[in-house]
Amino acid sequence: MPLDPEALGARAYAMIAELATISAEPDRLVRLFLSPEHRRAADLVATWMQAAGLAVSEDALGTLRGGFGSSRRRLLIGSHLDSVIDAGKYDGPLGVIAGILAAEPFARAKAKLPVGIDVLAFGDEEGSRFPATMASSSACAGVFDHDTLPLADAGGVTLAQALRVYGKSPRDIAAAAYRPQDAAAFVEVHIEQGPVLEQKGEPLGIVTGIVGQSRLRVTVSGEAGHAGTVPMHMRRDAYAGAAEMALALEKVVRAHRDDGMVGTIGQIAVAPGAVNIIPSRAVFTVDLRSLTDRQRRFAVERYQDEARRIATARGLGVEIENFHEIATAECAPGLQDLLAGCVGELGHDPVRLPSGAGHDAQVMAQLCPSAMLFVRCRGGISHNPAEFASVSDMGLAIAALIRFIERFQPN
Ligand code: GLV
Ligand code: MN
Ligand code: MN
Repeated sequence: MPLDPEALGARAYAMIAELATISAEPDRLVRLFLSPEHRRAADLVATWMQAAGLAVSEDALGTLRGGFGSSRRRLLIGSHLDSVIDAGKYDGPLGVIAGILAAEPFARAKAKLPVGIDVLAFGDEEGSRFPATMASSSACAGVFDHDTLPLADAGGVTLAQALRVYGKSPRDIAAAAYRPQDAAAFVEVHIEQGPVLEQKGEPLGIVTGIVGQSRLRVTVSGEAGHAGTVPMHMRRDAYAGAAEMALALEKVVRAHRDDGMVGTIGQIAVAPGAVNIIPSRAVFTVDLRSLTDRQRRFAVERYQDEARRIATARGLGVEIENFHEIATAECAPGLQDLLAGCVGELGHDPVRLPSGAGHDAQVMAQLCPSAMLFVRCRGGISHNPAEFASVSDMGLAIAALIRFIERFQPN
């Protein structure tokens, strides 16, 4: 199949730019799972899938499927349409669009392949709306956690209610799952979201594994008081305790430097939240990631001990809820090698690197052998409107994916 990476990249960019206009807010990109913007984005992507010759369907979690070929065994290719708050435009959409543009020549040529192709556009990779994440890929992988259905978003709408508003029924979730024997492999193209490829001067990378994550919600309770009258030694300041717990996270995580472990406190709320009241309550989140599940779980235990020690020393209460766990996923070595061969054939060094970001591929790895192709992004910047990948690099990724489809043989 002849390849024109520059033309593929230009088409991908035009589609990414169009999708980026679909946002809940006029001045920044916000596209949450099961929102009206998710609906509009999925409708647009469905038109692209149809135009590419793919048969479109949608499952109980809102995952769009663009299918080609009648074999029961499917090569699954995709990524997500939801975004973080104030997102860049490439994180997610690139992988969906790459899948459509790579499947298109096969669909148009009615190519005889040993597998059918399903391009998947998932709706919930970021976990920006509900305190759970990857609901859509979990349903496809047959590992959807029904305990997440009562979880509510910031406005009190539960996942089950949001699904109904989106026109779906939780009763249909089981039918969204692929049978393991039908899923030959899953491949996801994604921007790297880090600086490694740029530093190495290479456009594409092959992911070796995806970090596991633990997410905690820590609630610190103290006593509200007058900011002007309560002497410092008599205070039970929930925020001061939380601040010490934040520094304790850095200490615990840095002790695991060899593992590349990272820890982040990205959300904190203080109550009552007035300039002249000592905080009675602080609630913050912890996001802890590493490539070794055992080390991460050990760090979570140590952190909980530290937080409790700090709370006791300050006369505070502390409750810790572990609200999200996802295990480290290894990318399938055979698929990594196949992708590497395709990148090499395009004249580039297929850098191997781990992913510090979570991805749908991590969940799909529970269903079938999975792999990821990373695309260099400028400055390693992501989860930021400054996110950028070049037309040339995106075109190379799609070209590599086309070669991959040509060569893929199911086991
Ligand atoms: C998703 O992008 C994550 O890694 O948090
Ligand atoms: Mn992503
Ligand atoms: Mn993301």
